[in-house]
Amino acid sequence: MPWFFATAEHDHFIQNPTSPEKIRRVGELLRLDSQSRLVDVACGKGGPAIVLAEAFGCRIVGVERAPVFVQVARKRIAEAGLESLIEVIERDARDFSLEPNAFDAALCLGASFIWDGLDGTLAALAPAVRPGGHVVVGEPFWRQWPLPDEIDPEGFTSLPGTIERFQAAGLVPMGLIAASEDDWDRYESLHWRALEDWLAENEDDPDADEIRGLHEEARDQYLRVRRGLLGWGMFVGRTSRTVRISAWNGVGKGSSCFPGGRPAAARAAGPSASGDEGASPTSRAAA
Ligand SMILES: C[S@@+](CC[C@H](N)C(=O)[O-])C[C@H]1O[C@@H](n2cnc3c(N)ncnc32)[C@H](O)[C@@H]1O
Repeated sequence: MPWFFATAEHDHFIQNPTSPEKIRRVGELLRLDSQSRLVDVACGKGGPAIVLAEAFGCRIVGVERAPVFVQVARKRIAEAGLESLIEVIERDARDFSLEPNAFDAALCLGASFIWDGLDGTLAALAPAVRPGGHVVVGEPFWRQWPLPDEIDPEGFTSLPGTIERFQAAGLVPMGLIAASEDDWDRYESLHWRALEDWLAENEDDPDADEIRGLHEEARDQYLRVRRGLLGWGMFVGRTSRTVRISAWNGVGKGSSCFPGGRPAAARAAGPSASGDEGASPTSRAAA
């Protein structure tokens, strides 16, 4: 059977219920510029990374497990002329060692399941950003809480409950950019169209019935439950501005993502001995 999500997300530029405009709004909140360095875990086909690199000139390393998405991401990045700014590493994020204090921001949009939910995701991402840097997680939340008994919360919580999880992880809530009903409908409609196209072109495929079953079940769930009850937002949290001891131990030097680059933690801490200022507005804010 073709991988369901590769088929369903064939036409998505961004594989989440959001838009390039809202991704740019995240970049504005983070005050990104050409000095900013980001990691985007589960970067998919590279949509958010491309939007941010195009808008702010920042450098991004994406980590993505699915080879089919990595291939599309690299092709799109090349077509956009952004190869010098975005690197995509094909890896299971759980096996990717996130360098401590190395980034101005760490993103994970729509894949907190990698670390068994939001708490695990925040614990995994926060150490990778410099003091005063940002963690951005795209995460569902329930609009009604508590939920009706028959609905499984799937590990998600209410909107205030989601913010509390950021606070419990030691992150200061700095912003929320939520999906509108229109964002959701567009995201879901792209699934429907791609799957109906595939089914029309592959009606004799031995997996067609199974694909149709999954497609119709997901559509039904969306129409009956999720469209009314499930929200989704990009939550932005800021780490403490206190310089962590590990920021000084040189672990960030020689990053495989940014060879020769000065680690973000060092830039946050001040000018280097070589006189390389390299501070972004975000790191200045942290000083
Ligand atoms: C909902 S998509 C979001 C993609 C991208 N962040 C975006 O907004 O366009 C979730 C992505 O997580 C990736 N993924 C799932 N498990 C992963 C893992 N263990 N390591 C890395 N990527 C993973 C999937 O292949 C998929 O590309």
